[in-house]
Amino acid sequence: MPRAPDRMANRFDPATADRLQPRLRGLVERRAAVLGPGYRLFYERPVEIVRGAGVHLYDADGVEYLDAYNNVPCVGHAHPRVVDAIARQAATLNTHTRYAAEPILDYAERLLATHAPELRNVTFTCTGSEANDLALRVARFQTGADGVIVTANAYHGVTAAVAEMSPSLGPNVPLGTHVRAVAPPDPSLGDAAAVGAAFAAGVAQAIADLERHGARLAAFVVDSIFSTDGILPDPAGFLAPAVDVVRAAGGLYVADEVQSGFGRTGDALWGYLRHGLSPDLVTLGKPMANGLPVAALVARPEAIEAFGTSVRYFNTFGGNAVSIAAAAAVLDVIEDEGLVANARVVGRALRDGIRMLAADHAVLGDVRGAGLYVGADLVDPATGAPAPALATRIVNGLRERRVLISASGPHAATLKIRPPLPFAAADAGRFLDALADTLTEVAQ
Ligand SMILES: Cc1ncc(COP(=O)(O)O)c(C=O)c1O
Repeated sequence: MPRAPDRMANRFDPATADRLQPRLRGLVERRAAVLGPGYRLFYERPVEIVRGAGVHLYDADGVEYLDAYNNVPCVGHAHPRVVDAIARQAATLNTHTRYAAEPILDYAERLLATHAPELRNVTFTCTGSEANDLALRVARFQTGADGVIVTANAYHGVTAAVAEMSPSLGPNVPLGTHVRAVAPPDPSLGDAAAVGAAFAAGVAQAIADLERHGARLAAFVVDSIFSTDGILPDPAGFLAPAVDVVRAAGGLYVADEVQSGFGRTGDALWGYLRHGLSPDLVTLGKPMANGLPVAALVARPEAIEAFGTSVRYFNTFGGNAVSIAAAAAVLDVIEDEGLVANARVVGRALRDGIRMLAADHAVLGDVRGAGLYVGADLVDPATGAPAPALATRIVNGLRERRVLISASGPHAATLKIRPPLPFAAADAGRFLDALADTLTEVAQ
């Protein structure tokens, strides 16, 4: 059967490898030879990164780049407090969750205290995919149902079960039989009530469709900032009516905070709080330990009780001592350096700056975001239609100006700007200068 092309935005095309400098070309060819065809590189001219510090990355020639993309090193690349915590713990002990230990409990209590009060248990995994996979198992066990609702261009991870509920992976990864993808919220409809009612109607329709096919709803899984659906944080509160519909149908609400968690949105540590909600299950990952592989499923005790008492869960590396030490250091730094407030203030300045550029550049459409998660649409000025080719040119133009971002959204036409949280006002200024310069270049 012929397969559809890969839809990933900002993807390096291996067919153009002969245009690269010899060293980079050599690396690209070795990658293909040993890693096989599954991995993708970013940018028309990929970057070989060898070092990071704060919001900066450095390539093999010592050239510095402004990192306006990476959310995993949320407190900044190679943050000394995280490095120190990792080194000290690695030199002391690194074991798993089958021995009694206090640091994991200290961390768990601290993490849970940041969540809605109903959420009182946490299970540690290594990746966001595993956390979502576990959420799915828990929800299915708890409800005795199978159905899952996600949004139309959602991404929830790589295991067999969660890839089947990640429509953004494209037509070569079919959705599961009991998975329904609903249209994402449409902010153009107006206030939270209007956007929420339309979104909830789509969810209700999907539940009815599941039931017509003999299934019931187990879980409604949503990325709290709808990152792959185009970055849709506003109007705050629009998610609540859909969650009511889900609960009325007996399903659990799973907030995927892998993208929006740990202060990214600039108003709280968790994106769901923006919508005034208290989920049944929450999945965390990426920024949790600034790059060490640790993730988690946070749960209401009543949602995980039946599963936990009936099914043994052991994840060899999930919650190991070194990862927990790193995760605790991340919370310390977020608090001590005021990174949530920084995300709020600098994120607003970034969005305002991009909107000012839009006044001079008709190719810039809607600018959205919360905190340091910013999306800016590229459009055809004549029709208003999404302009993915232009987005690609801008991403690559910025890369040539040593500013790293990527593109996202259902049409791959939304600039995705999501830097480490210590991104300062001066960094935002540098980003905006580079964007202005790139926009002028593409207009010529
Ligand atoms: C919203 C969301 N959920 C889950 C995942 C999967 O996390 P991981 O790559 O750690 O498995 C991702 C990864 O990009 C994500 O963006």
